[in-house]
Amino acid sequence: MPRLVEIYAPATTANLGPGFDILGMALEEPFDTICAEKTDSPGVIIDGITGDEGRLSLDPAKNTAGISAAYALKQLGITDQGIRMTIHKGLPLASGLGSSAASAAGGAVAVNALFGDPLRRPQLLDAALEGEAAVSGRHADNVAPALLGGIIFVGGLTPELLEPLPVPLGLVLALVTPNVAVPTAEARAVLPQQIPMRDMVKQTASVARLISALYRNDIEALGKAVEADGIIEPARQHLMPGLHEVRAAARERGAFGTTISGAGPTLCAICDSESIARRVTDGMELVYARLGLACQTRVTRPASQGCRVKIIE
Ligand code: HSE
Repeated sequence: MPRLVEIYAPATTANLGPGFDILGMALEEPFDTICAEKTDSPGVIIDGITGDEGRLSLDPAKNTAGISAAYALKQLGITDQGIRMTIHKGLPLASGLGSSAASAAGGAVAVNALFGDPLRRPQLLDAALEGEAAVSGRHADNVAPALLGGIIFVGGLTPELLEPLPVPLGLVLALVTPNVAVPTAEARAVLPQQIPMRDMVKQTASVARLISALYRNDIEALGKAVEADGIIEPARQHLMPGLHEVRAAARERGAFGTTISGAGPTLCAICDSESIARRVTDGMELVYARLGLACQTRVTRPASQGCRVKIIE
């Protein structure tokens, strides 16, 4: 059994437009790195966190990785040993890239890896959800792809309802994260509690179009489908500076569609080549420069794997 492991926990983009709380995709970059070691004392210790500008708690009961690790230890029935971890946040916080979910998934995967991998990935869902729920609500559209990789349909909050969907070949994502924090809890508080029947019908059709595009390997149709969200985006758009300008610039430069990544403020454009995605991120930067907002851009691809485990010792 390993004594020391390193976990690479991927960013994820949730919703993909109309698939609120039920669709999410793992990304190759960025990712968090968790270095975890078995201890002879019970419980979880977080020795240090870097890359978070001191914003995250070292108290394992208040940290998503700590909460999920403690849950996984309990799930495995381990009471006489524990783990200690150091976390490097490669993901920006409150940015819509699944930062809390990456650490939550990583904490659970670390425990499982250190104690001989007794659980299959979907069985770590509860532990990861426990961590995620503490920060951003009980939804699995980030933790599920962070655990499993690819694009996941979250049919419900139990392992057997997580369903991998086909990932279109050649899909490339152009991401832009403006320098404003949008905490997920805040972005969820602005959502309508009731929706008219006609909006429900349109939204259902959009999700069906999106899933059909995935099965047909049709990146252009996927791009159109991610923009067809008539419920969540209208309620949140005031929290996303530059959304419409970025969408127009991305389209001009060859993207097929742009949507809010998770709860935002990161925006995600659907492209079919890296060169187009780079042109798109250049255009996104220009928009935010005009708006006087600093931003960070990234070109990335879907990650076929969820959290990766490297055994160090
Ligand atoms: N589905 C969630 C939301 C994702 O949009 O609130 C949060 O990352």
